Amino acid sequence: MTQNEKYQIKQRTLRRDFWQRLCGSPDLPVKLLFVALYLAGAVWVWSKQEAISAYTQSVELISPVMLAVMTHAVPAYLLVGGVALAVLLVYPFGRKAAQDQLQSIGLANHAGMAPDLLRKKRDKDNPRVTVWEFRNQSIPLTVWEDKRAAIEAALDVSIVKIAYGKSKSQVLVYAVSAQTSLPDVLRWSDAYLSLDSFVLTLGESLTGPVTVNLAHIPHILLGGSTGSGKSVLLKLLLMQSLRKGAEVCIADFKGGVDFPKVWHKKCRMCFTEEDLLYTLGQLVAVLEYRKGRLAETGCPNLDAYNEATGDNLPRLVFACDEVAELLDKTGRSKEEKEQLAQIENRLATLARLGRAFGIHLILATQRPDANILPGQIKNNLDFRVCGRADNVLSQIILDNTSAAEQIPKDARGRFITGDGTVFQGYLLDEKQL
Ligand SMILES: Nc1ncnc2c1ncn2[C@@H]1O[C@H](COP(=O)(O)OP(=O)(O)OP(=O)(O)O)[C@@H](O)[C@H]1O
Ligand SMILES: [Mg+2]
Repeated sequence: MTQNEKYQIKQRTLRRDFWQRLCGSPDLPVKLLFVALYLAGAVWVWSKQEAISAYTQSVELISPVMLAVMTHAVPAYLLVGGVALAVLLVYPFGRKAAQDQLQSIGLANHAGMAPDLLRKKRDKDNPRVTVWEFRNQSIPLTVWEDKRAAIEAALDVSIVKIAYGKSKSQVLVYAVSAQTSLPDVLRWSDAYLSLDSFVLTLGESLTGPVTVNLAHIPHILLGGSTGSGKSVLLKLLLMQSLRKGAEVCIADFKGGVDFPKVWHKKCRMCFTEEDLLYTLGQLVAVLEYRKGRLAETGCPNLDAYNEATGDNLPRLVFACDEVAELLDKTGRSKEEKEQLAQIENRLATLARLGRAFGIHLILATQRPDANILPGQIKNNLDFRVCGRADNVLSQIILDNTSAAEQIPKDARGRFITGDGTVFQGYLLDEKQL
């Protein structure tokens, strides 16, 4: 593209932007208020014009410019106020600076145009967060994500989330001040236990608590390399499930290192594959039973059933740390492979049908092995969380490389969710059980 063509595109876009700002401004009511004030001011100046001129005559030593302004108070007001009003109506504060900064880090389209700040506002859901709304000049979201660190430096903020706005021509950058950062350790306190059934709290992001409602998103997949904090987070979720009256089954093949005796009293533990197969079989049987009961009573889900019948069927949570390790068939005998295939089948049934019947899976893995967790299980684990990880593991858990990019290599208990929210998980002291 020639320089001249680039220039012409820029000019046309500027003209279009101007009219769109004026007509399609989302904060039009506030701006209309300014117009009303301006008009009221004009009437006031007009009514006081004679008094102002009389005052001007009485003052000595006044500059000629000031004298001219005061003698022609009405036109002066209309001109200066009108220009100020036009700028206010069209542009948000800091627009030019933001555009220059983004241009300087190379966030620009092929015509060389950087994103244009349309407005800055407080996030409705979280007053700590400012939403920067940009016209993205056809720059795709992936490019914004790639330049996330540079954008943070350019705008001097910590970015919480980048998302499309109402249409794909707008990008919203959710950010907090650059001085805000997550603490390395956040200790769990019972005060964080959510009162809503069945909401579990994972930790805190820059914007507040990170939670998951198992009634809506039934299953969780946790990933992260060794020492990233998966087991601690898994236990945090299981502890809350117990508190909320759920029954918990845990598959633990690490010889009780992660789940000391206190867990054995409160949960159903599986230490061998036979035991696990049996437990999963029971869970599938419960699922079938509940399916029948719900069908008979015409209830769409467990909560509705409990409410309608006065029964109190508990939610059932099945947890497995190191699930890829468990399902790995390499080097296994034929019988073992068959047993694993059955385990896989039952997990797949629970993953597919568990939601309505209050049966949930929380599976964790550190293995960057794409083929071990079958698609029919993985695709139903909708809430994804990944701690410190390499590109491959991050891609397996989240379907993107954000964990590798955004979780520091020495972080413990720091995670990112599938929707890009980084949080510090609460550290649970097992004595709190
Ligand atoms: N939320 C947290 N806040 C602070 N420190 C944490 C947190 N979670 C874990 N840690 C620290 O990290 C250590 C490892 O955690 P954890 O055992 O959960 O890791 P892991 O991912 O399960 O590792 P592995 O894959 O080896 O089992 C813990 O002993 C603890 O010291
Ligand atoms: Mg672990």
